Amino acid sequence: MSAHARGLAGVPATQSGISSIDGEKGVLAYRGYPIDVLAAHSHYEETALLLLDGALPGAAQLSAFDAELRANRAVTPEVTALMRALPRNGHPMHMLQSVVASLGMFYPDEISQPSSSRSYADPDYARRMAIKIIARTATLAAYWERLRQDKAPLPPRADLGFAANLLYMLTGAEPEPFVARLMDACLILHAEHTINASTFTAMVTGSTLANPYSVISAAIGALSGPLHGGANQRVLLMLDEIGSPAHVQDWLDKKLEQKEIIWGMGHREYNVKDPRAVVLHDLIEKLVQHRGGKVSHYYAIAHTLEEAAKERLAAKGVYPNVDFYSGILYAELGIPTDQFTVLFAIARTAGWLAHWCEQIADNRIFRPTQVYTGEALREYVPLKDR
Ligand code: COA
Repeated sequence: MSAHARGLAGVPATQSGISSIDGEKGVLAYRGYPIDVLAAHSHYEETALLLLDGALPGAAQLSAFDAELRANRAVTPEVTALMRALPRNGHPMHMLQSVVASLGMFYPDEISQPSSSRSYADPDYARRMAIKIIARTATLAAYWERLRQDKAPLPPRADLGFAANLLYMLTGAEPEPFVARLMDACLILHAEHTINASTFTAMVTGSTLANPYSVISAAIGALSGPLHGGANQRVLLMLDEIGSPAHVQDWLDKKLEQKEIIWGMGHREYNVKDPRAVVLHDLIEKLVQHRGGKVSHYYAIAHTLEEAAKERLAAKGVYPNVDFYSGILYAELGIPTDQFTVLFAIARTAGWLAHWCEQIADNRIFRPTQVYTGEALREYVPLKDR
């Protein structure tokens, strides 16, 4: 019997030029640009275009892309009507997965099957779809937040950039520039991360030549699980459970004794602190300064937990990952806990779509094999004889 790699750990599933990780040094780079540099200097629109095109755009290119994003934010009233019919207490990730999948039905012309399988690789088609999906996903998340509060959705504002418009539509208030900048950095940090579970899902789905709304919907489903994007929501629940920095040590001892997972810690690809967590930690520090020290108790608990966990988990290469600090920051920006993973999904559409473009440009359907562990061929026994 040949061996198989559990969880495909260490198995290269593709060739890709989109992002790279150095798990020993703690470096994540998009198209060769380290993530901390992008978080400090870029904005989400530019980073999305970098991911899609492979190079930093020139001014004209960027402004055309930005204008297209702004022009494509709205969705048809029929989409909103569908959203109104969904249960208000449903999880926003489930709403997003369902409604993104439905866009293929509401906009059939956009996804009309190319006559030749080769035309899927048409860069114009891929670019058009990428713009629509990136722009509309944010709108759906924000509409849902209003609808479930029995409020009318706020139409997108074409005078605001991606991050500011997202916060405006979600919270109903135009964010101050400092806050919009924090959100922009968070979107950049979450935009791409090599071949993780959701990206692989997008690639597998894309490799069947499924329409791009189905591709992104499948990826959203994969991201929703607590071992992947869903961890950021679990982190806040965990910090609530701990309650105060003074309880951290006892709580941690008990959890590790019971062999439980500490949410927001550990990553298959990093043996050091996730570089995104490093930047997020720094952003929270900046927010603490900006607010004159007035932030929730979550930050103090998380910081104490990180230090306590170091003593116990560093030997296994388990350190804070991207989800450890992102939820704390989102909570400070007034985002409801169950929308944290949705923000992750909105940002990640750029990375998923970059991988989808890469996949369909040189497509071969994914069809791995298996190590069969079931019965050998045997006789069918009629029901009366069993
Ligand atoms: N808390 C406590 N121990 C952890 C841990 C965590 N968050 N993450 C990993 N470990 C331990 C494992 O128990 C295992 O210990 P062992 O060798 O004594 O059995 C060792 O570290 C290796 O972990 P493993 O589960 O093999 O890692 P993986 O690569 O299969 O899983 C994750 C990676 C991300 C799924 C895992 O670290 C995890 O569940 N983290 C929490 C969920 C999370 O935050 N996910 C978001 C990722 S961005």
